[in-house]
Amino acid sequence: MSSLTIKPARSLRGTIEVPGDKSVTHRAIMLASLAQGRSSITGYCRGEDCLNTMRACRAMGIEIQESPGRLDVQGKGQWGLSESNGPIDCGNSGTGIRLLTGLLAGQDFFTVLTGDASIRRRPMGRVVRPLREMGASIAGRRGGELAPLAITGRKLTGITYASPVASAQVKSALLLAGLFAEGTTSVTEPRVSRDHTERIFRYYGIACSQRGTTVSVEGRPAAGWQAKDLWVPGDFSAAAFFLVAGTIVPGSEITIRQVGVNPTRIGLLTILARMGADIQVLNVREEAGEPVADLMVRSASLRGVTVTADEIPHMIDEFPILCVAAAVAEGDTIVSGAEELRVKESDRIATMAVELRKMDVSMTERPDGMVIHGSGGKARMIAASCDSHGDHRIAMSMAVAGLVADGVTTIADSGCIETSFPGFESKLLDLLTPLS
Ligand code: S3P
Repeated sequence: MSSLTIKPARSLRGTIEVPGDKSVTHRAIMLASLAQGRSSITGYCRGEDCLNTMRACRAMGIEIQESPGRLDVQGKGQWGLSESNGPIDCGNSGTGIRLLTGLLAGQDFFTVLTGDASIRRRPMGRVVRPLREMGASIAGRRGGELAPLAITGRKLTGITYASPVASAQVKSALLLAGLFAEGTTSVTEPRVSRDHTERIFRYYGIACSQRGTTVSVEGRPAAGWQAKDLWVPGDFSAAAFFLVAGTIVPGSEITIRQVGVNPTRIGLLTILARMGADIQVLNVREEAGEPVADLMVRSASLRGVTVTADEIPHMIDEFPILCVAAAVAEGDTIVSGAEELRVKESDRIATMAVELRKMDVSMTERPDGMVIHGSGGKARMIAASCDSHGDHRIAMSMAVAGLVADGVTTIADSGCIETSFPGFESKLLDLLTPLS
């Protein structure tokens, strides 16, 4: 089992790029596979999660060539997928398995979707139940609550669905199923979750309308859609580790180039600004329907803040690294309305509490969040032997915490970082001036 060793840093300085956006990459591979003709996808994420989605599409008859920095996807049109002759393994990816469940519900073939131990514990009923309302035939453990899922493709009908959770995976699974359904499919969320699916639909010319928190798609677009090249921006969720690292390690200045700044993703920027961080958003432009910018961070002292339920959907994946920022801030940081964090790759409220306590951070866990009692940077954190709990974002967050510890911190089971951020350690080392 691999582990990561982190030494305290004097400063972090330099310019980097981060891997392509994981959410956008999954969607780009799926939409390009269903387009008519060849699409090139550049800047894509080479993390294991996205490679599993690529393998899934290949298993369903799509030719995908990989050359350095570029995927060439030979789409076969909207109805061009064919039955895989074995189960499809989505690995650790909730996005992969949930979006594919939607995509496959309306095909005319049978598919089994599965994943690793973490995926087989995560809730699938949230997509299976509304898909069944559309006419889908999906079996699974505990009546379809858990993977593996066995999907017998069926003729679907559009529904109007009010989702109890703000989840882009639920919304996207239904919109993808909606493309294959008769009539209109509408999804209303309690709060708007990330909108990459809606944006990539529009980029490919698929009509998709938005009214308030409701998004609708018309099923079976007459002519399908044509292939189109696509560049994937850097992943804000990967940049987030460097935004916090650059903030909390004194004397730092980091520029992160070409990062996606989709407003439904950058809640952490607003929260860090409120905490007193010095982050500039430069050269904003748009690529393939997604806003992109360069981000420059300089170190700053932070103060504790209150994060409300409204803010959670736009920073859902950044919670572990926000905890690290909060731990060195002056005063308490209070997070509520974040119960979704308990059903991620790990229970992120519980795992961050366990791991940060090892570093002597004081915090109170709550069912839907936590209170972190910041040290105000008065003392360095205590170096510790941490564990990723098999969760990539926990591993990287604890690595950033280790930069401001009083000695050498180790993170066991760090191989999971590969799911989203291959090369994380070397990027960090390139920026780092060690303390001694
Ligand atoms: C994602 C949606 C979010 C997020 C995940 C990626 C997506 O999950 O946590 O990392 O690409 O749609 P939920 O939809 O469960 O909130």
